[in-house]
Amino acid sequence: MSETTTLEKAPGTASQDYTFLVGENVYLRTFHPGDEKNATSWRRSIFPKSSELVEKWIKEELPKEGKHKRSHLAIARKSDDVIIGSMLIYNGDVGIRVNAGVDPLYGENGQRWLVEALAIAAEWQVDENHQAKMDTEITSDQEIALQQLLQAGFVETARWREMLDKNGKRYDRILLSYFNAGWVERIGHPMEMELPRTGTGEIRPVPAKVVLDGDPPANAVIVGQRVYLRPEDKKDAEYYEKSSRMEDEAFFDIGRHIFPQAKLEKWITDGTDDDYPKYLGYAVCLRENDEVIGSVCLLDTDFVNRTAETGSFFHESKNRGNGYGSEAKQLLLEYAFDVLGLHMVNSFVYFPNTRSAAALRKQGYRECGRLCWLYPYEGGFGNMVLFDLLASEWRALPRET
Ligand SMILES: CC(C)(COP(=O)(O)OP(=O)(O)OC[C@H]1O[C@@H](n2cnc3c(N)ncnc32)[C@H](O)[C@@H]1OP(=O)(O)O)[C@@H](O)C(=O)NCCC(=O)NCCS
Repeated sequence: MSETTTLEKAPGTASQDYTFLVGENVYLRTFHPGDEKNATSWRRSIFPKSSELVEKWIKEELPKEGKHKRSHLAIARKSDDVIIGSMLIYNGDVGIRVNAGVDPLYGENGQRWLVEALAIAAEWQVDENHQAKMDTEITSDQEIALQQLLQAGFVETARWREMLDKNGKRYDRILLSYFNAGWVERIGHPMEMELPRTGTGEIRPVPAKVVLDGDPPANAVIVGQRVYLRPEDKKDAEYYEKSSRMEDEAFFDIGRHIFPQAKLEKWITDGTDDDYPKYLGYAVCLRENDEVIGSVCLLDTDFVNRTAETGSFFHESKNRGNGYGSEAKQLLLEYAFDVLGLHMVNSFVYFPNTRSAAALRKQGYRECGRLCWLYPYEGGFGNMVLFDLLASEWRALPRET
């Protein structure tokens, strides 16, 4: 073997092995063993891991990623081939989502490198591979990145206010999308599409707190005027399964769904033993007879940034549109803000689900943008309208006494 073939490449020359995915300062490449050495710099987590564990992840987990429709890429600096960040690409039903980051220690240079990496990914996936769109996210302290991404053709499609806590200050989480020009020409720009609306749009007073004469209902977490919340129970899965196959409305989700009881049981019990669960689900029960009529939940609960997504589901159409959802949601919000101490919550609604959007508006949520082109819909792509609500806004809502 000649001496030259055993020598490692000189730093700063590796990008010459690529015909694409190379920008002015950075390039994208797959991970390989050895990259674990500076993993704390490029891993996108606030919980660092040892090099041994990251090496194991590179060797054992990365090869399986395709099954989950996702892939990781390293963001490497051209001048010396040092990995300065990474990106995770998810393939959705319509487009892709890219979660990317560069080590914040690189400051403003890091923001510029991040923009370059995202622009390379967008041109590759959207312009060249004809994905309908690419979504990505940054935070409002990344001002340079925001300006440059807008200049590179990304559009700000949503802004969740004060969703991140950094160094004692709150920052917005910003969603940016890069749309395929051909699709925009054919079906129009999703940010210009009219959002259908129902309801009055008026914020209603938060119902007065209930003081009980007697004992609370069994296992009640929080009690309202007509309904109370209690932890979901494996036994509730039987009713959830039955009502899923008896569903008579199809507009509030991407069509109707049918669930095996065992899967519902697993959903209910998964994570319920954890002290800091991501999912907290509560059955909504009628005070008059303890019958379960719905579920409300906190999803993706983040106890570092003190945020969560709220969700609600009333299992039979006869129990929708009667104000139960708003009453139960106010109980959930009291729990989220006053008991868990969350700073803000958010919610996602499919465009045709005007009832859910109307309910959120009456509960005090504010529209904060759109998640565009998520799934095939009526010969084009369907969108979601997004909402957020700060604890301070909820506390300032009108209240019944
Ligand atoms: C979404 C849901 C939790 C809301 O709870 P709810 O008890 O129905 O809500 P409310 O009765 O308090 O408010 C409903 C609002 O929608 C309007 N509305 C009622 N029925 C409607 C219908 N069939 N279509 C459109 N709007 C309707 C009402 O006018 C009301 O607004 P207003 O009081 O300002 O006029 C409940 O409808 C539900 O479980 N739907 C099915 C599952 C779902 O959509 N979950 C949310 C996914 S994001």
